[in-house]
Amino acid sequence: MILYSLEEVPLWLQRSTNYNFTCTVKRKLERFKIIEERQNVIEPTKPLYQSIKGKWRAEYFKNDAPITLELACGRGEYTIGLAKIFADKNFIGVDIKGERIWKGSTAAVEENLSNVAFLRTQILLIENFFQAGEVDEIWLTFPDPRPRKRDIKRRLTSPRFIELYKKLTKSGSYIRLKTDNTKLFEYTVEEMSTRNDIADFRFTNDVYNSDLRDECFDIKTRYEREFAAKGETIKYLRFRFKEEN
Ligand SMILES: C[S@@+](CC[C@H](N)C(=O)[O-])C[C@H]1O[C@@H](n2cnc3c(N)ncnc32)[C@H](O)[C@@H]1O
Repeated sequence: MILYSLEEVPLWLQRSTNYNFTCTVKRKLERFKIIEERQNVIEPTKPLYQSIKGKWRAEYFKNDAPITLELACGRGEYTIGLAKIFADKNFIGVDIKGERIWKGSTAAVEENLSNVAFLRTQILLIENFFQAGEVDEIWLTFPDPRPRKRDIKRRLTSPRFIELYKKLTKSGSYIRLKTDNTKLFEYTVEEMSTRNDIADFRFTNDVYNSDLRDECFDIKTRYEREFAAKGETIKYLRFRFKEEN
């Protein structure tokens, strides 16, 4: 068998599907190894993964500043973008995919952002990581639309998720959704319109031609760029849970 160093791999072999697959797997494993050693990623291999609930300010950020979550963060563009604008606040990107988190965590290291963390978990398990009222704001950035009827309960704006967000956040906290997907957006607007525990509910089908634009700081995620390039308008809504008496 002929053994090549990576630089010497002949072109015909580089073009083969198997070779590309092997490279993708190799790159993924390298990135998983990096985030395993990175302080700004909380994932199952780390001690903080078991103990961080209720202690993000004291044990991770070491300050008393508000905490914003970006759920389904992917590469964490909102986490990074907002952390750069609001150096006096804390930001946590949450996603299940390690390779995407690697990207955001690398940006945070390169930009020297100590107010950023990434949490690798299923969003449905988020209560394991945050105490009631520990969170001050939630962004949902281009979550999967889950168009099938049987997947309605997996939409990140379905009632069981909204109840979770209500538990985690202080009363008065804003929840914000940005999406390209008309059906998910309409579903969410309808769901929110039936609730009597929310206030300051506003929405737009075209955020870049709306007075709500400033609330989004013109931060564009990977999915936003892709869908905008295909001609989709970007939808945005926000509301907050009413203050309890
Ligand atoms: C369409 S992508 C959007 C990524 C990013 N926010 C963007 O706009 O580019 C949806 C992301 O949600 C993550 N995701 C979907 N369901 C999830 C779940 N139940 N728990 C954690 N992450 C989830 C996926 O891994 C993926 O990165």
